[in-house]
Amino acid sequence: MPSLVVVGAQWGDEGKGKVTDLLAERADAVIRFQGGNNAGHTIIRGDEEPWKLHLIPSGILHPGKLCVIGNGVVIDPRVLTEEIDALRARGVDMGGLRVSANAHLIMPYHLLLDSAGEQKLGEQQIGTTRRGIGPCYADKAARLGIRVQDLLDEKILKQKIAAAMEPKRLALRPHAKDPSLDLHAMTEQYLTYGHRLEQHIADTSRLVWDLLDAGRLVIFEGAQGALLDIDHGTYPFVTSSNPVSAAACIGAGIGPKDIDEVWGITKAYATRVGSGPFPTELHDSLGDRLRSAGGEYGTTTGRARRVGWLDLVALRYASRINSLTALVVTKLDVLSGLDRLLVCTRYRGAEGAEFDHFPYHQSVLHHASAEYVELEGWSEDLSECRSAADLPAAARDYLAYIAEMLGVPVALVSVGPGQDQVIWTGQGAAERLAVAT
Ligand code: IMP
Repeated sequence: MPSLVVVGAQWGDEGKGKVTDLLAERADAVIRFQGGNNAGHTIIRGDEEPWKLHLIPSGILHPGKLCVIGNGVVIDPRVLTEEIDALRARGVDMGGLRVSANAHLIMPYHLLLDSAGEQKLGEQQIGTTRRGIGPCYADKAARLGIRVQDLLDEKILKQKIAAAMEPKRLALRPHAKDPSLDLHAMTEQYLTYGHRLEQHIADTSRLVWDLLDAGRLVIFEGAQGALLDIDHGTYPFVTSSNPVSAAACIGAGIGPKDIDEVWGITKAYATRVGSGPFPTELHDSLGDRLRSAGGEYGTTTGRARRVGWLDLVALRYASRINSLTALVVTKLDVLSGLDRLLVCTRYRGAEGAEFDHFPYHQSVLHHASAEYVELEGWSEDLSECRSAADLPAAARDYLAYIAEMLGVPVALVSVGPGQDQVIWTGQGAAERLAVAT
């Protein structure tokens, strides 16, 4: 059985949680490999109260699956322990949860620095989730990070926290009286988290290797999306990790040859949260309509998402930097009722130059306008469609156009928030994975 990486092909919020949850049913393990609780998934199952997850892979809802938070993830232990408690309270068995001993921890000062950094940027701010993600990855790179394994040794923990806070003294001065920054109290608090998490802490790479060696199906679950990638996204309006598929190797501790399939998740239109270029953004009532029909408000922060037409220039780029083997198109149902659909196939720069490829230069991208082809819309409600044949011809044509322009087959289509509201097309990796229903 192959291993499969699930990644966001846009700016995040594409519906990766739902896809991972569907695949997890057939898989033996789900591994998260980057990001932190800046991500958020809502999983809708029947009439149950929606499941909201930020750090724990959605596979946890399937009994008996191994669910790993890999070394590439940054963990706020307060959020993780609360998430464990909330799941336990609803009767979920947490026996399969494993947390990499090498994952880095978000500390109280990371949260303060994230907010302070944004405030200082004023109008230029990135629009971060203010969950401390950037400062935590910065400490990791500066070799000042505190890791999960440090929670198990009081002396080391205290020394490392003191060393990490030292160079931040000036920036933290306005918070001198903040009780969460007291070295002793912070150490005590984090030791408590350590006790709570100890049973889950493990050498997670080895666990994953054993499964791969045994030929089991392993899903690697990405957070955010390609265009928020710190190397390949719209820098500096990006997150501080690599949401692209290659990061599954680094963030889970495997090699590139261990990956067989990469599924890129894209909405049938586009959204973005936070600042930064978004060439297909809609600023009119149509944007409002899509935002409201698609429920485009963040799971983590509740912020209204910016909304726009599907951008094939950006998607082609995402396909390339991820080596996509299949696409999943989500929220196709949201486009119902529009007479015509616009799809961006190229950008035009401020000086008139045409760009078929995603421009590498930030200034070009900031001033690029989108050029569109017009496709026929459909009026039918898609929420009950369960096979490609159930879809109106215009919806099938829309999917076919995307697949052709990207040279990547559409394996799965989502037509509503419910787990059953999907269409397995029978194309692409679905057959090879034997996951088609
Ligand atoms: P950070 O990851 O909190 O540092 O935020 C950096 C940028 O990434 C901001 O524009 C955020 O809105 C965006 N971002 C981070 N996580 C997500 C996500 O899960 N979905 C969508 N956007 C995100």
